[in-house]
Amino acid sequence: MKLKRTHNCGELRIEDSGKDIVLNGWVENYRDHGGVAFIDLFDRWGLTQVVFDPQVAPEAHAVAHTLRSQFVIAIEGEVRARPEGMANPNMDTGDVEVYVKSFELLNKSATPPFDVQHSEDVNAETRLVHRYLDLRGKKLQNNMIFRSRVTGMIRNYFLGNDFVEVETPILTKSTPEGARDYLVPSRVNPGNFYALPQSPQLFKQSLMIAGFDRYFQIARCFRDEDLRADRQPEFTQVDLEMSFVNRDDIMGMLEGLFKDLMKDLFDKDLKLPLPRITYDDAMMKYGCDAPDLRFDLEIVDCSDVFRESGFGVFKNAIAAGGFVRSINLKGAADKLSRKDLDEMTPFIKPFRGKGVAWIKMNEDGPQSPIVKFFTDEESKALYEKMGAEKGDVLIFVADQEKVVCQSLAALRDHMAKKLGLVDENELNFSWVIDFPLFEKDDEGNPTSVHHPFTAPRPEDEHLLDTDVFKVKTNAYDLVLNGNEIGGGSVRIHDGEMQAKIFSLLGISDDEAKEKFGFLLDALKFGAPPHAGLALGLDRIMMLFLGTDSIRDVIAFPKTQKATCMMTDAPGVVAEAQLDELGIELALIEEDDD
Ligand code: AMO
Ligand code: AMP
Repeated sequence: MKLKRTHNCGELRIEDSGKDIVLNGWVENYRDHGGVAFIDLFDRWGLTQVVFDPQVAPEAHAVAHTLRSQFVIAIEGEVRARPEGMANPNMDTGDVEVYVKSFELLNKSATPPFDVQHSEDVNAETRLVHRYLDLRGKKLQNNMIFRSRVTGMIRNYFLGNDFVEVETPILTKSTPEGARDYLVPSRVNPGNFYALPQSPQLFKQSLMIAGFDRYFQIARCFRDEDLRADRQPEFTQVDLEMSFVNRDDIMGMLEGLFKDLMKDLFDKDLKLPLPRITYDDAMMKYGCDAPDLRFDLEIVDCSDVFRESGFGVFKNAIAAGGFVRSINLKGAADKLSRKDLDEMTPFIKPFRGKGVAWIKMNEDGPQSPIVKFFTDEESKALYEKMGAEKGDVLIFVADQEKVVCQSLAALRDHMAKKLGLVDENELNFSWVIDFPLFEKDDEGNPTSVHHPFTAPRPEDEHLLDTDVFKVKTNAYDLVLNGNEIGGGSVRIHDGEMQAKIFSLLGISDDEAKEKFGFLLDALKFGAPPHAGLALGLDRIMMLFLGTDSIRDVIAFPKTQKATCMMTDAPGVVAEAQLDELGIELALIEEDDD
């Protein structure tokens, strides 16, 4: 390469006019304007218009037409102001163009399968196979540059607060965070497997026992679970842990981080402390533990009103131990058609919701398929409870609590969008606190809400022997616009308590020893009180960038089926490799779908 750049493609300004410069980059397109040819040359920093004029450089001009999209070239030439009226105010370099004197072809490119700068409508598969081309486009490239910048700011924040960055192993043992493990066979220990970490949880607790006091890590985590728009099988956490602290210290440390990020990235002043809502309140008022608080639409329990109702659907649901809950869609009466209201019922089918009842508070009285079943007293009590006025729409779900919560939570989000109540530019942070320690699994047995290392609240410890599902924790989730972007807790630092929790989870002594023996051991050697949290870095990037796909913020993401289209991972391996590992494959039936 002879022509080494003096400037990048986003750098030249009117003040540079008259200078001789060199640019390196990719050809975006080639346009021939009757004798004079133009190309747009781009790199990471921007795009510059380059002119091949036969009057200036006949030799260069004569071969310019061989240049194609994505060819890599170096050009040497003179910066000139664009002619009167030709400046492009939408481009950083829009006041100038470069008249080529000579150029060097650094590499050709095959015809790209899509226009790298405009790939939005290209099918996802093609883009993922050629991810390096999609990443060459401005949008993804800017996302990754933004991510790098934010990660750097986060790292500096924690280093500035005296945290130590420690890398923890990837080849390790299972750390339960509620998903399946990815396993890696060990060649030198035939029949044995490493698990990839679902999080660094046990290592960071070990570091607290080791006296590091403040730890953080930008850590890769691996979870074999069903993928969704905000989930990847490998993802990144900002993982941290602190010693001799309580819940408020962790929350305060994180609030400081987000205050700085909001200021530096968006020039917004985040009001602290962030709102806190208890888990019980969140479930009651919003039906979920990560509520979107950019809008109100609170859920209200109306079961008392309908206990003896003539409307069988409500009465029977309550009699079966369920609830009737409602949302008042304020002022929505003239915004929602009959069709909109009827469409709510299929919408809640995934949560096993059976129906959504509604009352439209019209000018000439309530319109509804169900009010005819209510007594006057019921209607009155209902409207009072719901603060229902003319112009409002009340919607109801009657069922077991879980179905009611999930259905109304989904309807709440759906209706808020439909009614235009969501400010897409707002970043709304809140904490959800006081989670229960356990929830019931399908068989009704206790399973951890966070993970088995979360401490019960000291004042609730006595309930462990009497009413385990009532025990609350000092756990906290950070929620941004209805997305859980982080979670953590105060940990158990007492070996006996840890053993007790394992046994409540139905983990036998032998199993606890085999899986977590090192932790139980370590807890015997002076474990300080400690607490921590992990942020979902990918989700934060998504929300900061306003994209709804986690793939847009990960350079080389996986598909719904956990494959990498670019490298074609996972793949089959050679017989010899399997032999070395002592692994024999059972015949796997081809899956057609
Ligand atoms: P948790 O399991 O809540 O906590 O994970 C922390 C945060 O990581 C993000 N996250 C994910 N992001 C993308 N894809 C996934 N598959 C995925 N799974 C989780 C979420 C979540 O809030 N060890 C504990 C933390 C602690 O107690 O300190 C833990 O891993 O945003
Ligand atoms: P039905 O008597 O089943 O025709 O239902 C009368 C109204 O109640 C309809 O608008 C249904 O959508 C609604 N509905 C049915 N089941 C439920 C339920 N479990 N919760 C709330 N509304 C329901």
